[in-house]
Amino acid sequence: MRIAFVGKGGSGKTTLSALFAQHLSKSKKPVLIFDADLNIHLPELMGLKDLISPDMHISKQEVSTSIKKYLIGKNEEIKNLSDLKKTTLPGEGSNLINMKNLEESILRPYLAQEDNLYLAVVGTYEDEKIGKSCYHGNLVIFENILNHLIDNSGYVVADMVAGVDAFANTLHSQFDVLALIVEPTKRSIEVFEHYKHLAEQSNVHRNLFVIANKIRSEADRKFIDEHIPKEQFIGYFEESEYLRNTEQTSSPLDINSLENENINLLEKIKNTLEKIAA
Ligand SMILES: Nc1ncnc2c1ncn2[C@@H]1O[C@H](COP(=O)(O)OP(=O)(O)OP(=O)(O)O)[C@@H](O)[C@H]1O
Ligand SMILES: [Mg+2]
Repeated sequence: MRIAFVGKGGSGKTTLSALFAQHLSKSKKPVLIFDADLNIHLPELMGLKDLISPDMHISKQEVSTSIKKYLIGKNEEIKNLSDLKKTTLPGEGSNLINMKNLEESILRPYLAQEDNLYLAVVGTYEDEKIGKSCYHGNLVIFENILNHLIDNSGYVVADMVAGVDAFANTLHSQFDVLALIVEPTKRSIEVFEHYKHLAEQSNVHRNLFVIANKIRSEADRKFIDEHIPKEQFIGYFEESEYLRNTEQTSSPLDINSLENENINLLEKIKNTLEKIAA
């Protein structure tokens, strides 16, 4: 099962992906969360910063080469590394990565781990590439992994770059649920409209769901209800006193301190994901 958190800058993608991954990990199934933003925030927010170094970023050349070679395996259709494109699907002889066995997988050296929760960081620009390539280049290895991942025994969560970037590559079509975080603001609704349009054009609109975030009042709820179709709406995530405090103290997130109504919303996201993925 796979879910990506998308939306406008600052809407709460990183916060909600981290909390959702922590919530999923209570199920004891393996949870693999990807930080796919060029500004890397998840390791710190999840308290896993000491377990991951820039050498482990999967878009780092040595790392991505090693993963790509493994995925290609004995697939004779793929003669060179560069023939493994972001759209290339596994063929005869390809190796797959199974969530059932992350411990022994090719990804393991590059993951931070805490019990059944694993974190991978796509990674930011390498210095020599600045000016020569864009972040989409870094995301190719992420797309390769998703194309070769057997995920039915666990959960994949992705914290994505702000905006509609996922439509510039194949990522929008790689997830059971695209969870769009919407704030009760006009600007955020515009992002929803844009996303909805792109999702319809690429035929993934059945996978697009909205989570309203930073909800403070009945008026906020009403505003969201007026602009978001019911069938695409998961629920409201309240403005959180706990989250405000963690921002002030820069402490990592701990799901056990989150308000009950917000835990209930995380459970609702899980139910939606399981229903759509079934
Ligand atoms: N429900 C909430 N209640 C209170 N604060 C929140 C809530 N959701 C998010 N925040 C705060 O809003 C800010 C932005 O959140 P976050 O970093 O998760 O957004 P983002 O969408 O990942 O941003 P970016 O586009 O920069 O990656 C953070 O300070 C976070 O603590
Ligand atoms: Mg973020």
